[in-house]
Amino acid sequence: MARAVMLVLAVGFAGLAPADEPPKRPKPKYEYREEHDRDGIGKFYLDREIAHVMGWQGAGWLERKERVKEEDPEKLIKLLDLKPGMTVADVGAGSGYHTFLMSPKVGEKGKVIASDIQQEMLDLITKKAKDAKVTNVEPVKGTTTDPKLPAGKVDLILMVDVYHEFEFPFEMTEKMVDALAPGGRLVFVEFRLEDQKVPIKLVHKMSERQVLKEMAAFPELTHTKTHADLPWQHVIVFTKKAKK
Ligand SMILES: C[S@@+](CC[C@H](N)C(=O)[O-])C[C@H]1O[C@@H](n2cnc3c(N)ncnc32)[C@H](O)[C@@H]1O
Repeated sequence: MARAVMLVLAVGFAGLAPADEPPKRPKPKYEYREEHDRDGIGKFYLDREIAHVMGWQGAGWLERKERVKEEDPEKLIKLLDLKPGMTVADVGAGSGYHTFLMSPKVGEKGKVIASDIQQEMLDLITKKAKDAKVTNVEPVKGTTTDPKLPAGKVDLILMVDVYHEFEFPFEMTEKMVDALAPGGRLVFVEFRLEDQKVPIKLVHKMSERQVLKEMAAFPELTHTKTHADLPWQHVIVFTKKAKK
């Protein structure tokens, strides 16, 4: 008995983590280079330069009608296979272009959390929701390291043309992984760097290989699918492993 107590105490003092604690991850190594792309911030993560954040003044560009032909957003939403009652998040929601496409799919019993770091973008979303009497959209002000999502509750996190702008991609991903429910999906929609015909600035495109490289730090995630049939973007899907 005394030996058993000693053993429990020893394990406690050794600081061993209980089985369901998040895995210890290596800290990210960010690099700063003087020579860099004019559209980037001079900060690199795993050899990729991080892009400038698109300012709220560009909200009109996000709502351009050419987007339908260039990105086929209806097809994107269809392949997400959303169901009524789901809690989903649009991280880097901008003016809410995809937020309001997802809202009818998850219905009244579901919710779309629209997270962004720019209050002006969130104000546009609030106004749109009010004008269209949409009640299942929740605008949330995030920070550059935390999208402020509820832990363990989100079924799907969508990032359209966003991840490459994160100033702290590792820290943002840590929080998003924590926010996902077991079996939840983390979805990257990025302009294909592999395709030279996609007319987007270099640092605003990402290769599938780079996304996989950056997600390798998160053993909770499994790469489950890449859809490459949108006109300009690929859709790279990771699923959070269910607890054993
Ligand atoms: C190019 S816009 C895309 C907006 C929207 N996803 C769309 O496709 O219409 C990128 C958005 O990401 C937001 N953003 C950048 N870094 C962010 C972060 N760390 N957390 C949340 N939003 C962020 C920007 O404020 C901007 O609204």
